[in-house]
Amino acid sequence: MTSFDFDTVIPRKGTDAKKWAAYPADVLPMWVADMDFAAPPSVIEALRARVEHGVFGYGLPQDAFRQQIVDDMQAKYGWTISPDDIVFLPGVEPGFNMALKSETKPGDGLLIQTPVYHPILTAHRNWGLKSIEAPLVATDNGYEMDAEQLDAAMARSRAFLLCNPHNPTGKVLTREDLSAIAASAIRHDVLVIADEIHCELLFDGRRHIPIASLSPEIAERTITLMSASKTYNIAGLKTAFAIVTNAALRTRFNASRLGLVDSVNVLGLEASRVAYATAGPWRDALLTYLQGNRDYLQAEIARRFPAIRIVPAESTYLAWLDCAALDLPEAPQSFFLTHGRVAFSAGADFGSAYGKYLRVNFGCPRALLEEGLDRMERALSSFAASAR
Ligand SMILES: Cc1ncc(COP(=O)(O)O)c(C=O)c1O
Repeated sequence: MTSFDFDTVIPRKGTDAKKWAAYPADVLPMWVADMDFAAPPSVIEALRARVEHGVFGYGLPQDAFRQQIVDDMQAKYGWTISPDDIVFLPGVEPGFNMALKSETKPGDGLLIQTPVYHPILTAHRNWGLKSIEAPLVATDNGYEMDAEQLDAAMARSRAFLLCNPHNPTGKVLTREDLSAIAASAIRHDVLVIADEIHCELLFDGRRHIPIASLSPEIAERTITLMSASKTYNIAGLKTAFAIVTNAALRTRFNASRLGLVDSVNVLGLEASRVAYATAGPWRDALLTYLQGNRDYLQAEIARRFPAIRIVPAESTYLAWLDCAALDLPEAPQSFFLTHGRVAFSAGADFGSAYGKYLRVNFGCPRALLEEGLDRMERALSSFAASAR
């Protein structure tokens, strides 16, 4: 088996990297959801050749790539789609906003499962919608969906902005969960906008299930959003796609671009095509590495900070930490930033009830993860010393 290097720390300062440029130079960034790894070697090689070509005019996704995605959906998820169902986009976030623009009207209810990724949490504001929250429930076995509560919320909603795999909890909805969502959406005539951007980052042998693959009835009312960006670490290349099997829905969805949402970046197109075609072995090695980081983080938090509650992520490279029992004098994000010089994502960004939570990005070389934990430890020891 080819081995890939995920241990080398690649300096990213000075590369316009959002993660590294947003804070002062002495801060270790473990926040925004990209990874500190190089993209797969085959992707870098293809981009090098494309850059050598030297002409970067407008792009047009070709039939061969559409067919490749069709084959990929069949092979990975047993989901049969056709090439025309695919709509290329510069990102998943523009995709879910296009869907809301096209299918809702002001005052409609938008269902979300909190805590949730900030642009999903706040999407209702862009379109004058009412936010309807159906929180995931933390249990000793991980986060769980309350199907009855969800059904009641669905009755008040026009659309459900589903995030599966789920950011920030790393929850992967089971077939049973998804079937309950599908039945409820059909019963209450709700559109499902399925953000499945993390669909190739599942741990412990779990398999992703696109909700639209469950039945033709749910596919009819679903807009699925995917991208190679998270898995192959090419998010800055701004390329994603929607799968909309309902032709009328797809036409309306496409029309909601309104000249504001452009087509894809040519380098992103090349990188995505090559990633899907060739980088499976790299992705498998990445998953092993990330799972190792997840387990290491889990064990170290239990050992060093037993007051922090953490449920093992089932997917993504994000960990969701309940820091309430630390009883800090300020929000955990600002506490660790000020006293440890480490930047996590603030829990409050994922929902108003989560001010005492943190999201940690463990998509980095192990050495950086160790450094992040050391910084947390230093911050907590100085706090304990000052309280004495
Ligand atoms: C669940 C989720 N959806 C969408 C995005 C953003 O996707 P894009 O950059 O393609 O708009 C992210 C990025 O963190 C994400 O975690």
